[in-house]
Amino acid sequence: MMSRLFIALGASVLMYASAAAETTPPAKPWMNTALTPDQRADLVVAELTLDEKIQLVHGIGWGPLKEGGPVPADNNGGAGEIVGIPRLGIPSVQQADSAVGVRMAALQGRYATLLPSVLGVAASWDPEGAHLYGDVIGREIRAQGYNQSIGGGTNLARDPRNGRLFEYAGEDPLLAGVMVGNLIRGVQSQHVMGDIKHYAFNDQETGRAVVDARIARKAARESDLLAFELAIRIGEPASVMCSYNKVNGDWSCENDWLMNRVLKGAWKFPGFVVSDWEGTHSTEKAVLAGLDVEMPGEDYLGAPLKGAVTAGRVPMQRLNDMVHRLLRSMFVTGVIDRPSVPRFVVDPFKGLADALHLAEESIVLLKNDGTLPLDAGALRSIAVIGAHADVGVLSGGGSAQVDAPGGNAIEPTVSTKWGHVVYFPSPPLRFIREHAANARVQFASGADVAAAAALAKSADVAVVFADQYMSESGDVPTLALPSRQDELIVAVAAANPKTVVVLITGNPVTMPWLGQVAGVFEAWYPGIGGGQAIANLLFGSVAPSGKLPITFARAEADLPHSRIFGLQPRPANDPLEGRWAEDPEKHATFPADYSEGVRFGYKWFDSESKEPLFAFGHGLTYSSFAFSELQVDQQAKSVTFTITNTGKRRATEIAQLYAALPPKCGEKFRRLAGFARVTLSAGEHQSVSIPIEPLTLAVFDEKKDRWTWPHGRYTLSVGGSSRDLPLQASAELY
Ligand code: BGC
Repeated sequence: MMSRLFIALGASVLMYASAAAETTPPAKPWMNTALTPDQRADLVVAELTLDEKIQLVHGIGWGPLKEGGPVPADNNGGAGEIVGIPRLGIPSVQQADSAVGVRMAALQGRYATLLPSVLGVAASWDPEGAHLYGDVIGREIRAQGYNQSIGGGTNLARDPRNGRLFEYAGEDPLLAGVMVGNLIRGVQSQHVMGDIKHYAFNDQETGRAVVDARIARKAARESDLLAFELAIRIGEPASVMCSYNKVNGDWSCENDWLMNRVLKGAWKFPGFVVSDWEGTHSTEKAVLAGLDVEMPGEDYLGAPLKGAVTAGRVPMQRLNDMVHRLLRSMFVTGVIDRPSVPRFVVDPFKGLADALHLAEESIVLLKNDGTLPLDAGALRSIAVIGAHADVGVLSGGGSAQVDAPGGNAIEPTVSTKWGHVVYFPSPPLRFIREHAANARVQFASGADVAAAAALAKSADVAVVFADQYMSESGDVPTLALPSRQDELIVAVAAANPKTVVVLITGNPVTMPWLGQVAGVFEAWYPGIGGGQAIANLLFGSVAPSGKLPITFARAEADLPHSRIFGLQPRPANDPLEGRWAEDPEKHATFPADYSEGVRFGYKWFDSESKEPLFAFGHGLTYSSFAFSELQVDQQAKSVTFTITNTGKRRATEIAQLYAALPPKCGEKFRRLAGFARVTLSAGEHQSVSIPIEPLTLAVFDEKKDRWTWPHGRYTLSVGGSSRDLPLQASAELY
């Protein structure tokens, strides 16, 4: 047996087995592309030694993520690596975090495009946009020499204070499933492997490594797992990442029900399950429950797995299956047939154009008293205030952090274990100035509230920016904007009634000043095209088209749980009070009792008859639309209706179809069952058909362990938001 040596960047040297007679390479029948990916994977598995098989089911350690650790010579600098088998032509798997763009690109002098938040692209309700989002990530992953993107966040927004919501696609299973599924398709269209995470119920960051999500199986299948089911069906990702938390008593990464029964059994997922980084807790239990690859290291699936296989505690057949799943995904996506050749340079201009387009589609106009769009020609002075809008826009942190070109646009003051709070150099101030060339546009930081109010008073219009940093490994205790920004907005609005607020946040926030301001945009974290996109929408060169993928509550008390499970309140004088702060991670296991089941977000507000601040699906534009002539096709299970642009300019409406199950089911809420993004010129009308996604009408029967469709009359409603549904019809669909 020969060994292949990897020279570590530090003093350490890693050795990996590679049973090879490199001088006489074997014929490689698995390179025959006429065979199916499964046949090709089987042929490779038959050639592998036990050591090689073990090598393919774990990573090499923390690699460049942690200083001082060993790094193989072929390492590409990403979050993970699985060492390949060169003698058989199987490349190493090089993984890069890439939730909203490729992470750590600057580490090796590379550039990556920062896209708007995933929550933002969900707000576009545009599956093509989601595909484009994935294209950008796949393109740049590939150009940078990686062959797997580990993004694809699909956890539902069960709690609007979750620190990672900007990486996820909102609160509805259909919307999240369709958007993430298309995003994954985009990634994999670039011949790299995609991933979907964090499977499952990693719905809060507080105590994420110990929290035990307790939920009934029916509710689980109809909520978070439905989002995964749809995204996996549409996106066919190479892998599924199991999460840190426990679900109903078992760690996700050794949860037989989640992995074997649901994912691989019911959904027939043919790819591999990879653990979140250090999310593996055992060898036999994990592997027999369905875990295929341990990341980032080999604590459980290295030597201990070899021992378990040799002793017969894990059948060789199971190890073969684990390896088969990895290889199959590599063949399906093309990473073996079309290996990525690092060019190290991506196309930043194409990236910017795509990021700008996606940001323009994602920003939601929440309120407008008629002040918007701003009339560039008529304005003589504009006050721009707050959130470092003079230099850039905020980005989200954690493993989703993308490096800012040229470095952080601000002198950072806050740092976490993930690094600093980073602003990207896309300054709204600059783009506002470009639009309003004849106006005096002045900036106030907002640190001095009185000075900001004085500037606002002297201007025709005030645009106040407010932001909130979020990152994985922590949540926020409240929905309030941090750092006295509410106070700033109140003071500015009191000084100038024509005050427009632009929120740059990862999550919904409360708006105690809503009644005093003229307009509000939610811009999420808008990415490298952010400043430009915001200005384009403010001045109306682009009409807003986004709609909320998540409910905005008036207060924490209106949520299913007024507090995040396990969150320790901070002392009142703590400077971090109310702000995102790293979870201390010193918890013993504690339960998160999801007794609300599927009733969170709009389903909660609807069934509890609570008024949200802004409803799921809400979003305004600079035109108006009318809906008419709803028809239901019982056979085809689709609806057809007419949308008319009744306003004065071309704009986009997102038509939403909601279904209520037959009354005997006792559900007191509707379910989103389909949607369509429609762009029309002033006065134009169009007949629109929306097919109903059958799973949105289904009920999961725990006893039969399968979906069932209740008989009876379903009520179908169509309109422009979950709370604005002018058309209704009912039909016996099953
Ligand atoms: C995150 C994952 C990420 C991994 C690797 C973990 O902390 O939960 O989403 O992919 O780190 O960076």
